Amino acid sequence: MLPSNVAPHPAESPAPLRPRHGWFQLAFVSQVPEGISSWKIGALRLILVRAEASIRCFDANCPHRGAHLGVSGRLEDNAIVCSYHGYRIGLGAQACSGRFMLREFPTLVVGCMVLVRVSEERQFDLEAVLAALTSEHSFVEALHLEVRAPMSLVIENGFDARHFEGIHGITVRDFEVAPRARGGLQARGLFLAPFRQRRDGTPLTTLSPVPFEADAFSPGLILVRLGGDHPYGVMTGATDRGDGSCEVRLTFVLPKAAWGDTPDPQRYQPLIRYSRAGIEDDRRVWESIAPDFVPDLVPEDRSITRFRAFCADFY
Ligand code: FES
Ligand SMILES: [Fe+2]
Repeated sequence: MLPSNVAPHPAESPAPLRPRHGWFQLAFVSQVPEGISSWKIGALRLILVRAEASIRCFDANCPHRGAHLGVSGRLEDNAIVCSYHGYRIGLGAQACSGRFMLREFPTLVVGCMVLVRVSEERQFDLEAVLAALTSEHSFVEALHLEVRAPMSLVIENGFDARHFEGIHGITVRDFEVAPRARGGLQARGLFLAPFRQRRDGTPLTTLSPVPFEADAFSPGLILVRLGGDHPYGVMTGATDRGDGSCEVRLTFVLPKAAWGDTPDPQRYQPLIRYSRAGIEDDRRVWESIAPDFVPDLVPEDRSITRFRAFCADFY
């Protein structure tokens, strides 16, 4: 309990949202310690249990009286003992011989990513998409940063055609947004040269158009694929922390045909630098938007409206 003279942090005053459906990236594998660790998706409090090469995700609330098991839990075989009253809590249905059992959330560990599914609804074909990518691609941990903005604003960027030019200096043509055949929302378009223009509008470089495809699987997960001469993908996981900010993690999806079975970090460092510069440019603008601002959307913003309607279905 807070002493009475300590005001809550202002960012914590709006009630944090708790998604009811969808896949979210909770962590990079490299961030998950052995044993029990505490995580969040908005107001949803979770623990990861890492033991013997497995990573599993459970509700963090002790089913007895709600103590956070990331704080009060001790791992004991296939159960957690809660130190508050000493009850033994089974980890998932199979492990439950006593009265108390923790709800397990399906977890997918793909390359460097730990993904968690909140419910059976709106899971779409994410597992199949990742399974199809796995044999021909390497997943490389690229970036992790905290952004003082909601996760959906980060993911929305893939559907905000005008921001590519405004923030990143990339011209976009033939931009379209449509539902994916197996659920989710897709944006497609062409990134056109020049990537940067001189002040007088003449191109610095002449590059071929790069096809762009972005598949959103939830308000916090988007897979962007870029074609052209050097195709690669970026999975962006943005996950609300429940205080108005989110954790953003970028994973490169690099074709083995071009990058080899184990991509050389020296080779992808420039890509990391380029991505970091881009997302820092985005971040300055995301963090400048007042949380209670009501946007005045114009007809050209219909891709944003569609993405927001898509997100609303997850709550
Ligand atoms: S709250 Fe965990 S045992 Fe009572
Ligand atoms: Fe951006």
